[in-house]
Order: sequence, then C-alpha cells, then structure tokens
Amino acid sequence: MALFDFHQTYLNILSQTSQKRQLHKCTGSSFSSNDYLGLANSPEILSAAQQAIDETIPIGSGGSRLLSGNHPQHEALETEAAIFFKAQSTLYFANGYAANMAVLSTLPQKGDVIFYDNLIHASSHDGMRLARCKAQLFIHNDVQDLKAKITAWRAKNPDGNIWIIFETYYSMDGDIAPIDALSDLASDYDAIMVIDEAHAFGVFGPDGRGLAAHLDGCDNAIILRTCGKALGCEGALLCLPSIARDFLINRARQFIFSTAPSPLIAYTVRIALRIIQTQPERRKALIELCDYAGKILSPLGAITHGGPIIPIIIGDAKHTMDIASALQNSGFDVRGIRPPTVAEGSSRLRICISLNIDKTDIDALALMLRKLL
Ligand SMILES: Cc1ncc(COP(=O)(O)O)c(C=O)c1O
Repeated sequence: MALFDFHQTYLNILSQTSQKRQLHKCTGSSFSSNDYLGLANSPEILSAAQQAIDETIPIGSGGSRLLSGNHPQHEALETEAAIFFKAQSTLYFANGYAANMAVLSTLPQKGDVIFYDNLIHASSHDGMRLARCKAQLFIHNDVQDLKAKITAWRAKNPDGNIWIIFETYYSMDGDIAPIDALSDLASDYDAIMVIDEAHAFGVFGPDGRGLAAHLDGCDNAIILRTCGKALGCEGALLCLPSIARDFLINRARQFIFSTAPSPLIAYTVRIALRIIQTQPERRKALIELCDYAGKILSPLGAITHGGPIIPIIIGDAKHTMDIASALQNSGFDVRGIRPPTVAEGSSRLRICISLNIDKTDIDALALMLRKLL
C-alpha cells in the first residue's frame, strides 16, 4: 500500500459524492462573507492597523500569554471589552474555534453533563469530544426537549453541574434561539450556559453586543463573541465569571500551549469595539439591507429571520454545488453548504448579507437565481 492510499481513496469518494471541498478565490459581489458591517476593509480599521504599526505595536506576540506573550494590548482589550459588555471579565483568544474548545474541554468536570443544541458549531463539538463528562444533544431550539432531558438526568444524578450549550443566531440557518426560555431553564436547574454569539455580535442587541447581552455579568453565563465576523478583525472574546477566566488561564491547554494572539490585531479589535459602539448607523443599514434581501429572495425559497444569514435549501449536494458554481461564474460569490456541515438532504445556498454589497447586487442575484432555480 502506498503512503497516502487511504487518503486518495477517501478524496475520490468525496469527489464521487459531490462532497470534495476546494479553495476558491473570492470574486464577484460578496454574498458569502461574515464581515457583516463591512469593517474588514474599512478606512477606520485599516488606519487603526497603520497607527498600531506607527506606534510599533508588535505583529507577533512571541510566546504564550503565560510566558513572554502577554502584551499590554491584550490586557487593554480585555479591560475595555469587560466594560463594554458589562461582563465580570473577558479573555481574548486567537479565534473562536480555540475559545470554544478551551471552554468545553476545560470547565465541565467528571460527573457533570453537557446538553447541546443539535445545530451548534463544529468548534463546540470538538471541545465536547475532549470534555471530561458526557454530552447529550437536545432538539434544535426545543426548550421542552431540553427540560425533559435535564429532569431525567438530574433524577439520577443529584450532584454534578449541568452545562447548556447553544448559539443565539445560528450560523447555517439564520434562526434565533429562545434565549430567555433557555436562560430561565438554566436558572431553574442551576445550570451554566455557554452561549455562542459568533454571528449575533455586532449585528444585534444594544450597541451590537448581541442577543444575549442582558446575560453578561451573570454567574451562570459564559458568552463567546468572535472578532473575525462583524468586527472585521480576528480573535474571540470570552465574557465570563472571573473564576472561570482564572481557571482557563490555569488549565485550558488551548490558552496555555499556544502563542498569544497578535498584539497589533488586539489593537484593531479595540478600535472595532469603539466603532460598533459609536456607529449604530452601520447596524441600522445592515438590518435594512437584510430586510430588503428577505423580501426579494423569499419568493425564491429563501428563509429569513431578519438577519444577515439567509439560506435557500436545495437538498441535493451536487445540485446545490452546481447552482453555486453557476452563480460564481456569473459574478456572485455565493457558496453552497453541504454535509457534513449541514444534515444530509439539507444542502443549501448560504446567502450572507453585508455592507460590502447593496440593493442592486441583491436585485441582480435574485434575477440570476430566478433563471437557475
Ligand atoms: C457559531 C460559530 N462559533 C464559533 C466559530 C469559530 O470562530 P472563529 O472563526 O473565530 O474561529 C464560528 C466560525 O465559523 C462560528 O460560526
């Protein structure tokens, strides 16, 4: 057997079943970016990066936060973010993937249990794989199902913490969690919530703080805000009780055994936080554009819940990817999403609305979709 025989066979199967992924250049009007507020290329963020260079803020941190990598920019960002979110504390990670992995592999202990929404992100799944306790799914957004599962578990397990994992605005379906009902349930059962606001942060909530902003500062809420989506930068902020922050600094392998994020990028995140706080007009323009897209695209089968993620479920993976390619060849950067990212038979076009496009782009996309669908 040749060295990569297994891998070649596997890739061949992916090709035959229309599941082989390839890297594409982003060309045409952007309907796939999570840079919702158009900040990544904005003069404000670019000039923040320039200013950071002028002030000789380093690009690389040179080490783990626990060794030489802890830079005043990380600490300034965490202090400002804690004030902005009204959180007990915050901890900055290189990305949301590492932050979710760190929380779930480190905080739940033996004898605890994790209940997770069926549609949570891969990074939470990977964190749970490393967790010290068992994890059980609950039906997507179904509070009654979760309650039944918690009650059954608690009846047999008088001790042990209960952890509830959910997103507020789901990344592939664009629907919103019943946040208050989940939070009430968590309070009733003394459960701890791990809330992923990756796609809600910057878009929804007071000052763009997300849909779970009212839970910041609670003893039973750990909230993830990623900085690579609406903030247009990179990294992720965990907003969490101080004791949980301290525990992660001491025990999270993703935090300890990894080079600290770029101080220069931490500086740009500080500026981006100020922008979302002081420029509510960006959020208003985005939501107006999302409403417009919803109106134009829903007759074509698009599902909209009023936010920037608007899926059109096609079903078959090959058919989805063919339509996505036809759109790309016609100048629309729309991506097809297929298993394993979404469930078998629910392949879809994931249309993302951002301030990098305008109404005429949406009209043109609708025209092309009408021809293709
Ligand atoms: C819901 C959700 N959580 C976490 C992440 C990971 O965040 P990051 O891109 O910063 O690694 C993503 C990114 O795709 C996401 O969609």
